[in-house]
Amino acid sequence: MDSILIIDYGSQYNQLISRRIREMNVYTEIIPYDKKIPKFNHEIKGIILSGGPNSVYDEYAPYLREEILKLNVPILGICYGMQLLMQEENGVVSPSNKREYGKSKIKIIKNSKLTENIREETIVWMSHSDHVEEIPFGYDIVAKTDSSIAIVENTTKNIYAVQFHPEVTHTEEGMKLLSNFVLNICNAKPNWDLSDFIEKSVENIKQMVQEDEVILGLSGGVDSSVAAGLIYKAIKDKLTCIFVDTGLLRYQEAEEVMTGYKNMPQLKIVKIDAKERFFKALKGITDPEQKRKIIGKEFFEVFEAAKQKYANAKFLAQGTIYPDVIESKSVHGPSATIKSHHNVGGIPNNHSFEILEPLKYLFKDEVRKVGIKLGISKDLIYRHPFPGPGLGIRVIGEVTEEKVEILQKADAIFIEELRKQNLYNQVSQAFVTLLPVKTVGVMGDQRTYEYLCAIRSVNTTDFMTAHISRLPYEFLEKISTRIINEVKGINRLVYDITSKPPGTIEWE
Ligand code: XMP
Repeated sequence: MDSILIIDYGSQYNQLISRRIREMNVYTEIIPYDKKIPKFNHEIKGIILSGGPNSVYDEYAPYLREEILKLNVPILGICYGMQLLMQEENGVVSPSNKREYGKSKIKIIKNSKLTENIREETIVWMSHSDHVEEIPFGYDIVAKTDSSIAIVENTTKNIYAVQFHPEVTHTEEGMKLLSNFVLNICNAKPNWDLSDFIEKSVENIKQMVQEDEVILGLSGGVDSSVAAGLIYKAIKDKLTCIFVDTGLLRYQEAEEVMTGYKNMPQLKIVKIDAKERFFKALKGITDPEQKRKIIGKEFFEVFEAAKQKYANAKFLAQGTIYPDVIESKSVHGPSATIKSHHNVGGIPNNHSFEILEPLKYLFKDEVRKVGIKLGISKDLIYRHPFPGPGLGIRVIGEVTEEKVEILQKADAIFIEELRKQNLYNQVSQAFVTLLPVKTVGVMGDQRTYEYLCAIRSVNTTDFMTAHISRLPYEFLEKISTRIINEVKGINRLVYDITSKPPGTIEWE
């Protein structure tokens, strides 16, 4: 299989580069800039150096590893990646205090394979401070903005670089540029196919597990269900699924999950009631990262205990997907970590399991496609995602049983109404968040002083960027009326209208 290797210099858009290329059916891997290129069982046909928040003049500026240039495959530098290449090749990069941020028009002044079929003048998305002042010997300028060099190339060395971000949709012809690089310059064959993925994963899982057993953390959500389906296909009843009732699940979810796998009747599922320990561990904790870490740790301890009790399992399987991995383990370490997705951030260093994460390199929409191919029910596959730490991160601030109960009721009403109005499948993820803020209201003739809740609904395909759903006002009004009338403890509701970025989908 052909692949494109993305070198991560810390840009929040890195996963998008990967997404765009997978949309062309070409496989991708992202590795941090300071990591040696591992031995892959696919052929690297090209390399992309990503953008990043640093200046090449920073004291500890991320650098270019020599082995990258020695691979002798085409290279595309994006933003920071461009500046790094230009500096490495003895061009001049000018430091700047001012950031150029937003849409910009570039003008193509030279024919290039990279800009084939792209308009002579086209809109791109810039986000940089340093810029290239002088190009190195052997390079040509392909495009410029009014004030800066936008695209350069050295066709002899097969090195290309762009100052803007082709991976974001604001760059109108970004996808064309990326596909020119991947398919025409790198000649990568579009042979990344999810059917192959299933076959190869099943084979890998069999090889890995051999005669041992596996326990899997099943949450009732898409990712862990698909992981279960895939592992079951490989090792049949050597798989035991552990469903942990954390007390932080959606309304009546614990009951629903136990009956939700009717079309996978062979799957062994064990339910563990762990409500008490989760609430106890979260008592008094308000910091989001700390909450996530605690929930991760509790989960893990439950699995360790289950390991002894239910199966002599060597492996712990999880439904971890690619964004969980990338967002939790940023190239810059904890400082740039967006949030610790529980199934990555919560795993302690010294545990006795081997971890099995067959979906680790897939994006959500790819996971869904695999689920459908495995024959898992559409209801389950198209269910809105639910974060591993559950309502623990949707009760903002300290989590108590009372607050979770209030939130569960409000959330259930919101989802019920979305379904009734046929809106559930038109939005990608919708939920209620309970805020640690009380506001004054009036009901009947009585003053009320109750919690504020926020409803959130977003549309997205990859969950890395998201737009708010434009829910009709009448609908919002109905939700507000129903929740405030029916849920004791809430007297005010607001609608979150923040896109991602700059917001994340969950509030914590
Ligand atoms: P954010 O909040 O990062 O969420 O924009 C992106 C998507 O990931 C889900 N999410 C999680 N899923 N474990 C998970 O399995 C987690 O810790 C976690 N945190 C967020 C979130 O619901 C959204 O779909």
